[in-house]
Amino acid sequence: MTRRDFVRTTAATTAALTWLGAKIAPNVFAADAGKPALLGGQRAHPGGWPKWPDWRKEWEPEILDILRSGRWSRAGSGGKVPVFEEEWAKLLGAKKALATASGTTALITSLYAVGVDAGDEVIVAPYTFIATYNSVLIQKALPVFADTDPETFTMDPKSIESRITERTKAILPVHIYGMPCYMDEINAIAKKHKLAVVEDACQAWLAEYKGRKCGTLGDLGCFSFQNSKHIPSGEGGAVTGMNEKLVDKCHSYHNCGRSFGANTGTGSFTRGNNFRMQHFQASILLSQFEKLKKETAHRQANADYLIAGLNEIGGIAPARLPEKSRAVWHVFPMRYDATQFNGLTKSQFMKALSAEGISSGGGYHEQYNDGLLDEAINSAGYKRLWNVKRLKAYRESFKDLKGNAQVCANMVRISQNMLLADRSAMDHILDAIRKIKAYSAELAKKA
Ligand SMILES: Cc1ncc(COP(=O)(O)O)c(C=O)c1O
Repeated sequence: MTRRDFVRTTAATTAALTWLGAKIAPNVFAADAGKPALLGGQRAHPGGWPKWPDWRKEWEPEILDILRSGRWSRAGSGGKVPVFEEEWAKLLGAKKALATASGTTALITSLYAVGVDAGDEVIVAPYTFIATYNSVLIQKALPVFADTDPETFTMDPKSIESRITERTKAILPVHIYGMPCYMDEINAIAKKHKLAVVEDACQAWLAEYKGRKCGTLGDLGCFSFQNSKHIPSGEGGAVTGMNEKLVDKCHSYHNCGRSFGANTGTGSFTRGNNFRMQHFQASILLSQFEKLKKETAHRQANADYLIAGLNEIGGIAPARLPEKSRAVWHVFPMRYDATQFNGLTKSQFMKALSAEGISSGGGYHEQYNDGLLDEAINSAGYKRLWNVKRLKAYRESFKDLKGNAQVCANMVRISQNMLLADRSAMDHILDAIRKIKAYSAELAKKA
């Protein structure tokens, strides 16, 4: 057997064992994979990556049935949306779920339901997609940023209490990239200060924390089913909760303020919006439950393998997760330490990785410096709601987000569809990083 055949056989065996839940050390032969592609060596990953999103022919007839029925909106009774809500709640172990038009509208709805109003403050994780900030701003509330823990990439519970004021109404942690936050600590602070907790689980479908699913750990949880997500429907979202009345309040708000159960008619009883999901979306989502479960296990097995490999390589660290938690890896994030790569900058590292056939991204930047928050706090409305001194101190406080700045500077991430590849592709990723590290001094000299 040649070395290459042995490597291939080992990779195939590893993949098979992983499906059975076995934990295996990374491929030992991967260590001498030659020169980096940027220095004239062979690409570590010559093939492509699984495409995303991905549909199945067998989903099509139901979509056609809905199309031909003419009943596309959930206004009225029956149809696929209520079925999806019931099944989504069951899958997560939530008491109740509400389908929404998007993750953003799920967040807006949830903040309304827990009582966030104009002039309130919400403690928010800064390392997130911009919709998290926007959902607070849309309620004319102030998103006050907790810091990010540089090792977990999620909200640092130690940074929350100093940011609580008499106006704070809620905490909005984000299970970013599908990695559960330290929810026990966050919930304990919320309880002590009588604050609501809305989980942004928009990237955390089936992620687990101490035996419970993300989205069922706070007062309400919010999900996104946008096109890039692990269970996509083009656009779409959901709110989940353990308190039925609270979810029913969300239902009213998302349905033009109609009282819960009154799906049609014109009488509105609360403020509201039209954030309803369509039956087409619900059908696509229901079709993907088994796929989601299987692919989640596949991503998790490959992520475990990468974590073991990265820990062995050093200098590029995987995230630290809370005890007894299970991430679902919407992307696989790594903390890059240039000092351990002979000063090779993050962008040089990413360029070298790309030459190996492995595209990566740099993660979120410090979005609070972009202008969105300046636009809000300089608006007439915000100036009516807060005094100048508070808004000035608020703007200056962004400089204190040292952990977040560090995460933004050092993050390198690969996307979720890459984790759906086979085990040999994970070896290619590790091989590429090993090569780049071994030749980092030479690579650092290249522009
Ligand atoms: C963390 C996070 N929050 C909120 C959202 C908003 O979801 P949507 O795009 O479905 O409105 C997203 C979607 O990308 C997200 O990743």
